[in-house]
Order: sequence, then C-alpha cells, then structure tokens
Amino acid sequence: MIQRRTALGASLGLVILIAGLGALPRATTAQSSAVDLRNIVTGEKLDLSDVLPEGKDTPGVKQFLSTGHNPYITDASCLKKGEQTFLAACSGCHGHIGEGKIGPGLADNYWTYPQNTTDAGLFSTVFGGANGQMGPHNESLTIDDMLQVTAWVRHLYTGPVKDAEWLNDDQKKKYTPYKLGETFPDDPPGMCAKSGKS
Ligand code: HEC
Repeated sequence: MIQRRTALGASLGLVILIAGLGALPRATTAQSSAVDLRNIVTGEKLDLSDVLPEGKDTPGVKQFLSTGHNPYITDASCLKKGEQTFLAACSGCHGHIGEGKIGPGLADNYWTYPQNTTDAGLFSTVFGGANGQMGPHNESLTIDDMLQVTAWVRHLYTGPVKDAEWLNDDQKKKYTPYKLGETFPDDPPGMCAKSGKS
C-alpha cells in the first residue's frame, strides 16, 4: 500500500515536472522587457506574450524593449509604414493627421494621460488601450506595427518642441512640425525597408 502510494506520488510528481518543463520554453520565448510597460488606465503590467506571432523580435522591437526608446521615430522607412497603419487603424477615430474626431487629438501637446509623452507610454496605450472606444491593439497589430504607428503619431506632432519629451536634444534641434501633404518616397531605406537593408 505504502509502496503504491509512493509510486503514485512519484508519477504525479513526474507529471507536474513534465507540465512544468512544458511551460518553460514558452516562458523563455515570451517577450520580456527591461522597460516597465503598464496599461495606461489600470497600471497593470502588459502581457507581452499576448501578441501576434509576427514582428515581435525585430531589431527595432528588441531595441525598444531594452531601452524604452522607439528607434523608428526618425526613420523614414518606418514612418512610411506607420502612416499606412495609422490611416487604416487610427484615423477613423483620431482624424487623418491626428487632429481629433471621436478620439482626442494626438498632434498637440495636451495628453489626457501624461505618460503618452514617453515612447513607452504611447506604446502601452496602443497595446493595452485606454477607456471607452480606445481598445487594445495587441490582437490586431504586431509589436513592430505598434512601434511604426506610434512613430508616425510622433511625426504628426505640431506642438512646441519643448514639450516633445520623447525627442533627445539632437532630435529637438532637427524638429520641424508636420505639414499637411508631406510625403516620403516609396520604400525609403531604413530599419523597416522591404529590402531589409538600411
Ligand atoms: C474606435 C475609435 C478609436 C480607434 C480605432 C483608435 N482610438 Fe485612440 N482613442 C479613442 C478614444 C475615444 C480615446 C480616449 C480614451 C480615454 O480618454 O481613455 C483614445 C485615446 C487615445 C490616446 C490617448 C491620448 C491622450 O490624450 O492621452 C492615444 C495615444 C491613442 N488613442 C492612440 C491611438 C492610435 C495610435 C490608434 C491606432 C493604432 C488608435 N488610438 C485607435 C478612440 C480610438
């Protein structure tokens, strides 16, 4: 009897061990971030394993997750794609140039959630959503798409440069407010170029 119980205990233990091992690879391949990314409204940590399979470990995503800075904000190849995503996924509510519609304007220096003045905050808003109609985008956009589209949101900014906290000093010197009709050439070189070359 005792022996049987031990055998049962041992096999149960084995099952638990195997189940545990099964979970291990998932835990280690899930995106982890050195940056503290939290839902803008609830403050809950974002679950970076709950993302689309593509575009989660591009060089740009890795750089963002380790530094908290979006490397795409000055990269024409990423802005070009970000613009397309913005027009498809955001402009219906926020306006074609982020001027605001049923969602607030995104091109000025007023933010309902001041965290949006950082790249990590803006990314978190798109990833996890905010209140009302501002839903989460982790099931419709890849992490890379979210970096591209938030880079475009930064590009649309027309407010005073002093409030553009997401820009470093050098970027602030080069800042020119977005002008309607501004375009980029097709497939410009950069981190998001189709050719993959920069
Ligand atoms: C269905 C409509 C809708 C869509 C689509 C939508 N938004 Fe929103 N968005 C809203 C609304 C409404 C709010 C205000 C929510 C709040 O105050 O909590 C908002 C809030 C925001 C904020 C916070 C602004 C602030 O002042 O702090 C950001 C940033 C934002 N949206 C970006 C985006 C981006 C980028 C996309 C596209 C990927 C997008 N939204 C798609 C409706 C939408």
